[in-house]
Amino acid sequence: MGNRNSNFKKIMSTIKNQFQFVICGTDTDIGKTLISSFFVRGLNSFYWKPIQSGIESETDSQAVLRLTKVNKAKIINEAYIFREPVSPHWAAEIDQKVINFNLLNLPNVDGSLIVETAGGLMVPITRNYLQIDQIKQWGIPVILVCKSGLGTLNHTFLSIEALKKRNIQILGLVINGEKHLDNPRILTEFSGLPIIAEFPYIQKIDSKNLDILWEEQNIKKKLTSLFDF
Ligand SMILES: Nc1ncnc2c1ncn2[C@@H]1O[C@H](COP(=O)(O)OP(=O)(O)OP(=O)(O)O)[C@@H](O)[C@H]1O
Ligand SMILES: [Mg+2]
Repeated sequence: MGNRNSNFKKIMSTIKNQFQFVICGTDTDIGKTLISSFFVRGLNSFYWKPIQSGIESETDSQAVLRLTKVNKAKIINEAYIFREPVSPHWAAEIDQKVINFNLLNLPNVDGSLIVETAGGLMVPITRNYLQIDQIKQWGIPVILVCKSGLGTLNHTFLSIEALKKRNIQILGLVINGEKHLDNPRILTEFSGLPIIAEFPYIQKIDSKNLDILWEEQNIKKKLTSLFDF
């Protein structure tokens, strides 16, 4: 039944030319929110950060709203906001909250949807449930954000292996940071995955620069071909 339901959803989003995917990273602080903003603005999509841990600075939803300038209604409320900037399983315990998995079901939106994970794939949401288990449950594909420089190969290949093992569809990679001479080549050759964007280090992160990169790298066209519309 779950499968039929997700097949139906897939067909419906195909008809409407809508993109729904998860932005996951090989690590925390890897650029998921920045890259989510890139896609949210480019596609004028909805954005959802189901679990936000840490409220000291700007939340990810606030950052996406600021960077994309989309209609506020496109930013879907978090299911959970925990005070401490630690793994969700522990952040929930500190706040004495018990996660209700029904609240983590994908929101029903009329349009494209980008979901940003809490940290990397193997981050625990509870003491016996990982972020990657929730991604499998959602049944939508993943774009993996990885860093461009030293250390990325191990993290990225491990993440890809974990996704493949669970038959989670990976649309491709976004390589974030200063251009590296060989990493894009080895990443794509070894994984067989396309590179959707090489997102450079940018001094001034604003909507204008996001738009320039969106056009320069022809992202809409690349995504459309990956979704097989
Ligand atoms: N390509 C880039 N150019 C300039 N700054 C960047 C770039 N990528 C990331 N940053 C900066 O690095 C910091 C971390 O990025 P971001 O918040 O997008 O990471 P994240 O993976 O969403 O983190 P979290 O795990 O907390 O959700 C931010 O201050 C962001 O502006
Ligand atoms: Mg983030």
